[in-house]
This record gives sequence, structure tokens and C-alpha cells, in this order.
Amino acid sequence: MFKIESIKQIKVTTSAILLCILIGLAPLSAQKTKTSSSAKKISPNLFGLFFEDINYAADGGLYAELIQNRSFEYTPADRKEWHALSFWDYLTPGFSYGSINVETKNPIHENNPHYLVLHAEHVGKEGVGIKNKGFGNMIVKKGQSYNFSMLSANQGSDAVTVKVMLQNPKGHILDWKEVTMHSKDWKKYDLQLRPTANCDSTEVVIMAVTPGTIALDVISLFPANTYKNRQNGLRADLAGLLADMKPAFIRFPGGCLVHGDGIGNMYRWKYTVGPIEQRKAQKNLWGYHQTAGLGYFEYFQFCEDIGAEPLPVLPAAVSCQNSGGTWRTGGNGQQALPLEEMDDYIQEVSDLVEWANGPATSKWGSIRAAAGHPEPFNLKYIGVGNEDKMTPEFEERFAMIYKAVKTKHPEIEIVGSSGPFYEGEDFEKGWEIAKSLDVDVIDEHYYVNPDWFIKNTKRYDSYDRKGSKVYLGEYASWGNKLRNAIAEASFMTGLERNGDIVELTSYAPLFAKKGNTQWRTDMIFFDNSTAILTPNYHVQKMFSANSGDFYLSNIISSNLKDTTLTYSTVTDAETGDLILKFVNTGDVTGNFNVNLSTIKGWQMEATNTVITGDPEAENSFEHPENIKPTSSTFMVKKNFIYEAPASSLSVIRIKVKSKS
Ligand code: AHR
Repeated sequence: MFKIESIKQIKVTTSAILLCILIGLAPLSAQKTKTSSSAKKISPNLFGLFFEDINYAADGGLYAELIQNRSFEYTPADRKEWHALSFWDYLTPGFSYGSINVETKNPIHENNPHYLVLHAEHVGKEGVGIKNKGFGNMIVKKGQSYNFSMLSANQGSDAVTVKVMLQNPKGHILDWKEVTMHSKDWKKYDLQLRPTANCDSTEVVIMAVTPGTIALDVISLFPANTYKNRQNGLRADLAGLLADMKPAFIRFPGGCLVHGDGIGNMYRWKYTVGPIEQRKAQKNLWGYHQTAGLGYFEYFQFCEDIGAEPLPVLPAAVSCQNSGGTWRTGGNGQQALPLEEMDDYIQEVSDLVEWANGPATSKWGSIRAAAGHPEPFNLKYIGVGNEDKMTPEFEERFAMIYKAVKTKHPEIEIVGSSGPFYEGEDFEKGWEIAKSLDVDVIDEHYYVNPDWFIKNTKRYDSYDRKGSKVYLGEYASWGNKLRNAIAEASFMTGLERNGDIVELTSYAPLFAKKGNTQWRTDMIFFDNSTAILTPNYHVQKMFSANSGDFYLSNIISSNLKDTTLTYSTVTDAETGDLILKFVNTGDVTGNFNVNLSTIKGWQMEATNTVITGDPEAENSFEHPENIKPTSSTFMVKKNFIYEAPASSLSVIRIKVKSKS
């Protein structure tokens, strides 16, 4: 239970004083006695997001690039039928002719080795060129601006004029511009296009209309209106849905993607910052290609844009235990970085801190500054490892990284790992390692049936308060029906109650693209134009947008024997609001008693947001709003009974006025 002395650390801000008043305590500066209270300080970062490039969440998803295989880096290693010219068509209309070749002799950067050489021999009326249809159907909107860019080097003696067009499948041109290329060295060309009509199957066509030979690379098309109009930015609609959730943090870039399919496929952050033409694309272990266009800079910038803490996760110098398809045989395909490479690897982890937080004059800070962000990003957390198999190789490398980074950067909270399940050998070993090293936070993962969540709402009640804190980094019940979301809601009341030991939580996975899904339970389904919000999304949002700083145990009560009824109460220091959450996983109305007598200054008129319905219902592209929350005004009294509908989560937000 919370003791007054433990909140003496808190800054005495106006809101903290207000909070003390509302929970019936004297302001901190006036505290003298050691009194017990029902208010418990909880993590302000409890509800965040987990982003992994799974299910086409990044390229073809949140990352707003419209051209697929823009750098000619697709290979059969990504997917056996893919190659450097996948998703590109060669065009020689009428009597025109020439050639295209993929070359590697003189690349723009060693990390981006392939480029296209277009030779236009006889250009006829329309030219010689290439076209790209993007990730499925490319959508453009009438009158909106699209930023086209490409890198080119002229390999011949004549300047080459290129016509860049957006057209529909019938060849009707929606907009076009011409550019003449003289430069023998690689040079970037930028154009803005504004289609004259909507089109949901756009083709980007690039035609050399004068003879000659040009090398082309990083051919890119972005809508100008990305989220916050960022260059190399994010799809505004999808990013907006995440911002609406008001997440306290975002974990990226995964998931299994972090430790990769074999040691050579680990996600290395250094190759994902700097100009996009210098980044290193690689196979995505979920069976496609990652350009790294959405890289560490973009993740950090998005976190900053929406006020979330960045939580980057780096490999613990071992690969995924399912590397090489060994998940079929139960693992262990884990590979470990040779010990002689560990010094460099540890340096790479430390360099991330310098890149994020160092001055613009430092080696890595200057790379951040050159990307347009001279101010530090204020990184506070780093994850090391993702649900790894707890082998001696893992243990040794994790300890090396943990000790070195913690010594150099004691200000950074390091998140360790505890395997892929809520119990078992890896789980036990992960916690044992955490104890022996005194790791700040440990990442737990579990995907289970909804009943497990309902039965385990008290999981963290008995966790050791003196040990490492918990990051519940990946969890979901198997399914996207209302029943699943309400089971998760019930469990989340337990997370709030235990917000003193559970520091961070995130549902997983976040995104799934229609027709490109590798994981069946996800939070947001989308295609190239729309997004479907699952009941699970709504529940997550109802918690994260209504999170608090203190947990109060004496406001709500219910029949203790009724395990279908769970609840939590928090106060939000910023607004002073009192937030009540009621979950009913049962199939009849459930009654909760609410007693506001210990709260001073509560206002009668509150807002009640409720999600309820048929527990078997879910949302789909055909019926996107089958299940969604509704909000209404709710009049509260000092003592009242709240009747929660069957299968529901209700969030009542009460304004509290300062009496001072
Ligand atoms: O969230 C999907 C996958 O589940 C993650 O990549 C992995 O960490 C977990 O097994």
C-alpha cells in the first residue's frame, strides 16, 4: 500500500497539489505525518504501442511511400520469386526500343548497391521507359500534391529528357512533368505532381523521350500530406489513429524482426538513419522486403510528434531461435554473434544513445542533426533482446551489453527479455538473469485465449515490489471479437492496479494489411485507402487515452465472488480528472458500487464511454462499425450504483475542481 513518504520525490506542481487535495491529503510541501492512503503512484507510461514491420505494417503500410521496389533491391532472398526488377514493367510503346539493365558498378552508396540503367535507343513518339503500380492498387486523389523524386546519373554523352507521369490503367494521364538530366554524377531530381482526377489503380510512368543512357535509383512518390507533412513520412490516416490513442510510448521495430532470421538478418539501427539512399534494405523475416525507409529517425520523430517515449529494441547479439525455419521443428536456430565482435556491437548499442541524446557536435549526434533534428530526442529506454531463447550464449551476451551500457549510461532504463510465454523454462531463466543483474525492466510476452486473461487479472498482485519492473511488451487474446477485447479490458484493470510494478504494456501486433497478413490477431486492419478498428483497438484506446498517475482502491467495489466484474480507478495529474473503469465479462448486467465520499470537488456532470454488444461480433471491411464505443453525459452522485451492460467496458471521466 502507498505510504506518504514514498511520494515525497514527486515534484510539487500545481497538478500534484490538486491531486493531493482531491484524494484527501495535504499538499506534499505541507506533509509531516506518515499516514497511509488508498492512493498508489502508478507508472505514467503504462499504456503504449508495439510497432513491428509484420503484416506489411511498414513498407506498403504506415510508411507512405507509394512505389514498390524503389531502389531495385528486391531479391529472391526476400521471396523466391522476387528480383531487382520486381514490380517494374519495361515500356517500349509503338516503334520505340532500347534496353534496361540492373547494375552494381557505380552505386550511389555501398548500402544500396543496385540501380537501373535505362538506354533509350529510338524513342519514337512516346519514349522508352518503366512503370510501377506500387503496393497493390496505388491511390491518388484529385487536386492533392504528390512529391516525386529520383536519383539519376547520365551515363551517355547527350542530356536525356525524361517525362514523369501519373496515369490510370487505360493510359489516361492524370498529371506529368519533364526533367532533363545532364549530370554525370548521381543527382536528385524532385517534381511535384497534382492529379486531375481520383484514381485507385495509378501507374507511375517514367519515359526517356530523348535518346541516351541514364542510371536511375530510389524512384519515390509520396503524398505531400503525410502525418504532420513530414518528408519521408507516414500515412496520415494510419498515424492519426495511433496519435488518437495518446500512447505513452512506442516500442519499435519489433518483435522477431529485431533479432532476425539468422545473425546476418538482425535489425541494425545504424543502417536505418541518414539519407534514404544510404540505408541498407534487407529481407524481412515475415517473408517480404524492408527498405528501412521507415527507420530509427522516423520512429523517433513520430514518437516526438505524438508525445510518446521512444522505446527502441535492439538484438541481444543473438538471432531469433526460429531462424532458418526451425519453428517448424520447435527451434533452436538461435545464432550468436562471435565474442570477438562483441566490443563493436556494444559500441553500436552505446552509439544509439549518442545518436538520440548527444549534442549535435558529437559524432552520432551530428548525424541526427544533419537529418534536421539538432535537439536531442531525450531517449530514456532501450530494450535489449526480444523473447529470446535463454541459452548460455544469450546470457553471456546480454550480460555484456547490459553491464557496459548501464555503466556508461546509468540514465537509460534497460529492458531485458523473458522468452515467448507467460511461464516455463525461458520465462524462469529470463527472470533469474534479471534478478542476478538487477535489470531495470523485464519484457513479458503472451498470446493466449480470452479465458486466460479473465482468470489471471490478479497475475501481478503478488509480484515482488523490490525486483525488476515489468514491461508486458506483447499480449493479445486470440481473436478480434468483442469477447476478446473485453477479456483484455478485464486484465487491463489488473495492470492499472499493479501500475506500481508494471511500468509499460503494449498489445501486439499493431497493424495488418488486407491480403498480406502473417499473424491472425491484430489491432488495426487496413488496405491502401481505409483502416478497420477492431474492438481490441477501441479497448486499448479507452485505457490509454484515460490513463492516470495514481491508483485509488477505495472508490469502486463489487461482489467479490463475481469474477466477471473487474474495475479500476485512477486520477490524472494533468487534468485532475478522476477516471473510473468498469468491466463486465459476464452475460448479464453487473452492478458496481461507487463511493466518491473521499474525493473533494467532484463535479456531477461526467462523461461515460461504453463499448458493448454481442460478444461474438467483430468489425470487418464490410461492417467496420459493428462494434464501437459511444459516449454520453452521465450524472454522478456521492454514492451510486453503476449498472454495467453484459460484455462491456465503461469509462466514466469525472471532472474534479480544486478547492484551494
Ligand atoms: O507480435 C508478433 C510476434 O509475436 C513478434 O514478432 C514476436 O516477438 C512474437 O512471437
